[in-house]
Amino acid sequence: MDHARERVGRLAIYPGTFDPLTNGHVSLIRRGCQIFDNVVVAVAADTPKTPLFSLDERVRMAEEVFAGHPSITVEPFTGLLVDYVERRGANVILRGLRAVSDFEYEFQLALMNRKLKRHIQTVFLMTDYQWLYISSTIIKAAASLGGDIKGLVPENIYRKLREKYGYPYPLGDDIDLGLGGAGGLGGKGGSAGSAFGAGLGNGGFLPRSLGAGLSAEGDDALRNGGLDSDDEGYGGGTPPMAPTF
Ligand code: COA
Repeated sequence: MDHARERVGRLAIYPGTFDPLTNGHVSLIRRGCQIFDNVVVAVAADTPKTPLFSLDERVRMAEEVFAGHPSITVEPFTGLLVDYVERRGANVILRGLRAVSDFEYEFQLALMNRKLKRHIQTVFLMTDYQWLYISSTIIKAAASLGGDIKGLVPENIYRKLREKYGYPYPLGDDIDLGLGGAGGLGGKGGSAGSAFGAGLGNGGFLPRSLGAGLSAEGDDALRNGGLDSDDEGYGGGTPPMAPTF
């Protein structure tokens, strides 16, 4: 049997407001790419939220993150999600689940979409535990008051958030682009030119007690800089800004 042919053409649409895209989204997209041949990051124009960033900004920022990753496309969409999915020739909507609190909303969304177009399936992936506590809203809330959200969003988005809220973007010794060091691209992929692969110093995003409670590996990862090396594809040291392939 030609197993390669079985996967050809598997396309998933990952919709969202992405105001802005966070490392939680990036991690999910990365993992979606392990299942699907192509993932379209579909940025919604029609959303019940009042976004901080314009549609153009949200698309551009995400495009920068995934530049150099041909299996990931970023595009805006208007109107009903299911109509867009159909226009795109897909039948899979990819969504992430963080916690029980997401379930009710996601269940409602998936059932409504299924009611509207029965042949379109929603596939859920668990959000990696490192990103369980973040959302675009909480990141904006912290950033708006000058809180350092370094390491929770890709570097270009970090810069944009700092600019948006009138805080200086720190340029200097505290930034490690992560291109060559132990915690950088690590030869595991990610293109040197893209913000997706770029990294910054610091880490330790997860409270120690939470990490330790989740797994022994997580505890080690915390000691190594705050991320789980197995999950995000790099081994300790300074964690990159965004999960790498
Ligand atoms: N890690 C971290 N955070 C995550 C995450 C992950 N893996 N996945 C989702 N989140 C967070 C997001 O940051 C976001 O936080 P926020 O609420 O603070 O902004 C929240 O979870 C969910 O947002 P997002 O994934 O961006 O999706 P959304 O709920 O904003 O998207 C649409 C909703 C776009 C899918 C929906 O409005 C839609 O389909 N619109 C088109 C019109 C339509 O068809 N409407 C009818 C739908 S039945």
